[in-house]
Amino acid sequence: MTVHKIAVIGSGTMGSGIALTAATNGIRAVVVDISDEQISRAKKYHQKQLEKSVAKERITQDEADIATANLSYKTSMEEAADANWAVEAATENVDVKKSIFKKMFDVFGDDVVLATNTSSISITDLASSIPKAEHRVIGMHFFNPVPVMKLVEVIKGKKTSEETTAATIVLSEQMGKTPVPANDFAGFVSNRVLMPMINEAFHAWSDGVADPEAIDSIMKLGCAFPMGPLRLADYIGLDVCRDIMMVMYNGLDENPKYLPNQKLIELVEQGHLGDKTGQGVYNYEKG
Ligand code: CAA
Repeated sequence: MTVHKIAVIGSGTMGSGIALTAATNGIRAVVVDISDEQISRAKKYHQKQLEKSVAKERITQDEADIATANLSYKTSMEEAADANWAVEAATENVDVKKSIFKKMFDVFGDDVVLATNTSSISITDLASSIPKAEHRVIGMHFFNPVPVMKLVEVIKGKKTSEETTAATIVLSEQMGKTPVPANDFAGFVSNRVLMPMINEAFHAWSDGVADPEAIDSIMKLGCAFPMGPLRLADYIGLDVCRDIMMVMYNGLDENPKYLPNQKLIELVEQGHLGDKTGQGVYNYEKG
């Protein structure tokens, strides 16, 4: 199966990154979002990244022009119905994702793979919302920033077909990524390992083991992480971290070790979500 056009449902950080990565690897990508504001943010991100790549001589101006031509933007899924691959990259909420999946089932053709970029929610559960197409549903979990991070975590649901899995591996490689399989447990591998570390960094801060700068410096310099865990939490979004931890708590026998730290919850409740709001663990308002 040759993928000629990917519909990316959701134009936030992940959706816009997935679309850009497809476009720069020679695959047409249509970004679908009901919000005009989000779409124009995605467009600006695409233009800025392509200009940067040309300035840094990573790609030529011609290649950037081809990538731009590969990208399109729509405010309804119906307008993207000619795509032969769809990937959902909406907010990390099971009800939102299930309603998007129902719509994807109605809009896209019978042989289109319906992938999800969920970072923690059960693929089997999401697929159960469209019983006639469970074999076409698969987890295709990208990492932020998508154009840079090499991994796609590939998660089969109970009824995902071998054909769907094989096609996902081929497409991930076509997009310049390394697909690695994980089984369908809440949080898969990436967040099963990452989120407890981030949460523990919040516990260490709350307990007064060290301040955020020291915690991050220790993990960067001592463990060679590109970002310390608290800086990374801001980068991912504190609301996203909390939601993932709750999906793992609910999906893994309500084990209290997955419950988000109180400081993390408080920051989210105060609207301090990290980079995207200018304030999280750290303040970014002055850049
Ligand atoms: N889009 C495209 N490219 C980007 C980018 C973005 N948003 N952000 C950075 N880059 C590129 C830059 O253009 C630069 O490219 P060149 O070297 O070719 O010029 C390169 O990445 C390095 O960027 P910078 O020099 O600006 O900064 P840096 O060296 O500090 O790297 C970083 C930035 C790549 C984000 C690095 O800090 C890093 O790897 N951080 C960890 C990120 C991480 O762990 N991500 C996974 C999060 S978990 C997740 O996504 C899944 C989940 O389910 C929660």
